Order: sequence, then structure tokens, then C-alpha cells
Amino acid sequence: FEDDSDQETIDAKDILKRELQDERKTLPIYKFRDELLKAVDEYQVIVIVGETGSGKTTQIPQYLHEAGYTARGKVACTQPRRVAAMSVAARVSQEMGVKLGHEVGYSIRFEDCTSEKTMIKYMTDGMLLREFLGEPDLAGYSVVMVDEAHERTLSTDILFGLVKDIARFRPDLKLLISSATLDAEKFSDYFDSAPIFKIPGRRYPVEVHYTKAPEADYIDAAIVTILQIHVTQPPGDILVFLTGQEEIETVDEILKHKTRGLGTKIPELNICPIYANLPTELQAKIFETTPEGSRKVVLATNIAETSLTIDGIKYVIDPGFCKIKSYNPRTGMESLLINPISKASANQRAGRSGRTGPGKCFRLYTSYNYMHDLEDNTVPEIQRTNLANVVLTLKSLGIHDLVNFDFMDPPPSEALLKALEQLFALSALNSRGELTKTGRRMAEFPLDPMLSKMIVASEKYKCSDEVMSIASMLSIGNSIFYRPKDKQVHADNARLNFHTGNVGDHIALLNVYNSWRETDFSTQWCYENYIQVRSMKRARDIRDQLEGLMERVEIEVCSNASDLDAIKKAITSGFFHHSARLQKNGSYRTVKNPQTVFIHPSSGLAQLLPRWVIYHELVLTTKEYMRQVTELKPEWLVEIAPHYYQLKDVDDAGSKKLPKGQGRAAL
Ligand code: CDP
Ligand code: MG
Repeated sequence: FEDDSDQETIDAKDILKRELQDERKTLPIYKFRDELLKAVDEYQVIVIVGETGSGKTTQIPQYLHEAGYTARGKVACTQPRRVAAMSVAARVSQEMGVKLGHEVGYSIRFEDCTSEKTMIKYMTDGMLLREFLGEPDLAGYSVVMVDEAHERTLSTDILFGLVKDIARFRPDLKLLISSATLDAEKFSDYFDSAPIFKIPGRRYPVEVHYTKAPEADYIDAAIVTILQIHVTQPPGDILVFLTGQEEIETVDEILKHKTRGLGTKIPELNICPIYANLPTELQAKIFETTPEGSRKVVLATNIAETSLTIDGIKYVIDPGFCKIKSYNPRTGMESLLINPISKASANQRAGRSGRTGPGKCFRLYTSYNYMHDLEDNTVPEIQRTNLANVVLTLKSLGIHDLVNFDFMDPPPSEALLKALEQLFALSALNSRGELTKTGRRMAEFPLDPMLSKMIVASEKYKCSDEVMSIASMLSIGNSIFYRPKDKQVHADNARLNFHTGNVGDHIALLNVYNSWRETDFSTQWCYENYIQVRSMKRARDIRDQLEGLMERVEIEVCSNASDLDAIKKAITSGFFHHSARLQKNGSYRTVKNPQTVFIHPSSGLAQLLPRWVIYHELVLTTKEYMRQVTELKPEWLVEIAPHYYQLKDVDDAGSKKLPKGQGRAAL
């Protein structure tokens, strides 16, 4: 019997593989397979343009493998987004009938799912950038495909310069630059007039509808539109573009509530969220075919614009916004803001509805808005971000002359200067702009320079164990605690336990991690304390990796749990740029480049309002909020960063009222 059942599973696997092989042949790119391989053989660099869903990402690496390129080295395919790298790798391993992580794998920050066997490697653009540090000529690769080039992420832009450079002395290396939009000329020009290979896509007509008047609340409008489509329109799945996890969760919840009472006449509505932090096991759900008689609605971030193709979408709802990082080089402040999208994005979004048949796109803005208010293209990230991380990476690659680096679009010189200044203040660079020992150590960590500096500084304060835990907890972002609607009081109390003694948010995170570690990483403990076990496991993974890197930079792991000031000083060593002082009205003022900010209501210090604080990040919602806040002694700033702060910066006299007598006497 056992043999029989084995036989059966093998058959099932074979059938799936055969079906997938047939499916591969139906993709638009299939007809161009041989022509494409010929072009790759002939030219070193090729720009490939093709409509989203034509098969670029999943097929080209397989074609290259079939043609023998993987016998000479790995094929790398970079993606701007983690989720895309993971999900595409999973798909391709299925198509090839191999186990994910064997012949086909992926590599994203803090997660390496590859092995000795891996020949096709999907990875984030940031990870390939980091691989240059260990292997500056990418000797292990025969082909590098920079995919989704049109997204122009910071890492992709830097990769352009680096791969263009190594291609000159590695004539055997093939470079493919692939993009979903038609402005391929620019890529071609940059890569010394590389030939452009166009893959004509299938695109059915898309009917675009606009609202008559601007919408006051696009979340509301999106929900109403989803329900209208569901009730009045023929079968076909819906794709809605939202700006982030929070919005997606809100819409998910409201939709579930509203569809509950619709009765049996209305078909079922399956709600599938997709965003960067969605747990892996839930990500596959968006690709499942919709059962007959029901409809799927995918609530997605920008990730579904070009990175992921979901079959069966017939209706697109486009509120016209996305979250975008913006950076003010003058103040050094970086923030994530909800911004109108570009015309190019709007057209990509609309196109998602016309892949398998005629589609409809509902824009929740007016046609006047579209014509007059939307920019043509999104500004490349390199022109609107803090460059400290990139500058540190380039410096560790031995690239000193950043002004003359071969950028496709150079960053503002003000932003470059600011990055150099910041790295100098963090002691990562010396006054000649050269990498210091501290800087070299910092570059080993796949973290923002401020976080890596805090880790490197923990050596001095003999608290590396604690600081690594804090850094890992900060790296998983905002998803540690949860608050079920019916148990908010319990959840809040559980949370307050970690803040005992008003230790501040950083130490509270440390308390959470250490308490969990004491229970031997118990899942039950997480449930009892309203903590997301998934996030904690991720923090533990990150921490394990940081610990591995500590060995590389020769920092001893030691614990100093009772000396909270030592831990706070290590944090300050990385984050002294982020200091703020209390004002009379309860707001705060950042010390350098004064700006009014507030403690985020979720902080353990929100009621306490210490005089001086240091914060992890600023988030702009209704106000400019500091998130993850810890109290600080102002003299630490001068002690730790004497080149950045002078006594007059931290002199409390300005805001302190002198006792009457004293004040007079001084006059
Ligand atoms: O890269 P491009 O947009 O040109 O297309 P692709 O990502 O290679 O997608 C080709 C096909 O694979 C599409 O029909 C997708 O629906 C399918 N696919 C999938 O089923 N699951 C994934 N994780 C990725 C792609
Ligand atoms: Mg693709």
C-alpha cells in the first residue's frame, strides 16, 4: 500500500509539473524565447521591455538555465521587493519541479533560502548590492538580471553603476535590464546604447472611469466601489490599490463586516490582503484561483502594480495614492508620506485589469486631477532619500569619488554632503572622508548606519547582548503587540508590564525579548501577553544573524542588563541626531534643525513627558510623531558626540525658569 500511495503522489506532482510546463508556453514571452537567447548570446547588455505578466521574471532565468548559462555560474534576478523575490522563486521552483532553496532559491535581508545547489537566485536589489562587499566582481554569477528597473529604487540605481563597471572587465558576464515601461531608451543610453528587446504584451481594452467630484475619503470610496462592483458587475476579481498595511487591515475588517449581512443571493467575496510584512503562508493565497460562484478582492500595496501579477483580475480600483519616502536634505529628516501617484503608475494600475480579457478601472479621482495634478513619472528614490547607507556601502567598496560616480540620475549634491556629514558625525568616516575602523565594522551590518553604530558602540558600554536584542526588535517594525478589539484593556495592561519603572520604549522592547527568551521562546507566553509570535520569531532570526556578524567584527557578546544607563548610552551613540527637548506646551523641539514633534501615543512615555528624549523614527500622521522614545540625560549628547553637540545646545537655561532671587542678582 505504501508503494501505491507514493506512486500516487509522484503522479500528482508530475501532472502539476506538466500542467505548469504547458502554462509556460502560453505566456507572451514564450514566442520570443529563441530570439531572446540569441540576443543574449550576441550582446553583453540587453534592455528588455515587456508588459507586466508577459513572463519576464519567471521565464527568462529558466530560459537561461535551459540554455546552459547556469553551468558557468548562477543567474541572479533582482527585485525591488522582498515579497516579489520570495513568491516568484516559489513559483519558479514549482515550474521546475524542484524544492525551493535547492536549484531555485531566494535571498532577502535576514533570510537566505539558497544552497550550494542554487543556480537561479531571486534576490532583493539590496542583497545583490551587499554581495559586492564579499565578491566585488560577482565571480559566482554568469548572468545578472536587474528586474523591475523602471521602479528606480535606490539600490537598483546603485546597482546600475556597479554592474556597468564590472561588465567592462568581465566580458563573460551577461547583463539584462528589464522594465515594464516603455521609456527604455534611457536605460539603453546609460548602458552605452545597449539593444532594446521588446516583448509585445497582450493587452485587452480597459475602460477607465473617473469620479465626478473629488472624494473626501478614499478608503470609504474604495469600500463603496468594491461593494458596487460585487453586486452589479459580472464575474471577475477585483484589485484595490491601498497605501499600506494599516489601510489594508481597515478595509479588510470593514468589508468582512459589511458582507456578512448580504444574504445568500449575493456570491461570496474572498478578501485577500497582500503587503510586504504579510506572513509567507498567507501570501500564496492571492494566487489561488477563485472558486466558481465567488469573487476575489485583492487588497494590495503598490506591490501589485508591476512586481506581482495576479491572474483573473477584471476590475481595478485606484484611489490614486501611495506611500512614498521623502527626505529633506537640509534638515536630514526623512518621512513616509501618502502622496498622489504619477500618471505612469496610474496607467500601470489600470493595465492590471486587462490581462486576460477586457477590464475596467475605477479611478477614485477626477479626470481633471489625472490630467493636471499627477506628475508624469515618479521621482527616482535616489533623489528623495537619505543616502548615508549607500555612501557607507560605496565607501566600503573602495569607491571614494562619489561626485563622479556614474549615476543614471545623480542625487542632489546637498543630500550627498549631508550623508557624508552624518557618517562623519557617527565616526564612520574621518575628516578626509575615508572609512574608519568603526565605519568598516558598521558596514558589515545590513542595517541603517545609526543602528549599526549603536551595535558597534555597545562594545564600549559592554552591553552588546542587550543592544543586539533592541536592534532586532526595532528592525521588525511596528508589529510586536496586538490589540484585539474586545480585549483592549487586557492588551494594554500586558503591554504596560514591560514599561515598569518608565524605562522607555527601547528598554521595554528589550524586556519583551528577554522575558520571551526566559520562557524558552514560548508561543503560549506570546498569546498571554498579546504579542505577535511571528514577529518575535523574526526578531530572534535577525538577532541570530547579528550575533554571527559580531564575531566577524570581533565584538565580544556580553551582557550588562542591570546598567540601563550604559544601554541608553549605546543607543545614544547611534541616535544622537534624533534628540528632542520638551517645550512648555507639551510638544517637543528637535535639538538640531529645530522642528516641533510629539511623542507617539503608543509610547510608554506618552504621559510622562521627560525633559529630554531620543527617538528611533519620526512618523507623520495627524502630527509629526516620534516613535520608540527613551529618556536621555542631555550631558550624554556632549559626552558621546562632542563634534556634533556643544554645551550651549543642551543648556537647559533657556527653558528653565530661574528662581526669582537668583535671576535678579545676576542683573
Ligand atoms: O515579470 P512579468 O511581469 O513579465 O511576468 P511574470 O511575473 O513572470 O508572470 C508570468 C506569469 O506567472 C503570470 O501569469 C503570473 O500570474 C504567474 N505567476 C504566478 O502564478 N505566481 C507567481 N508567484 C508569479 C507569477
Ligand atoms: Mg516581473
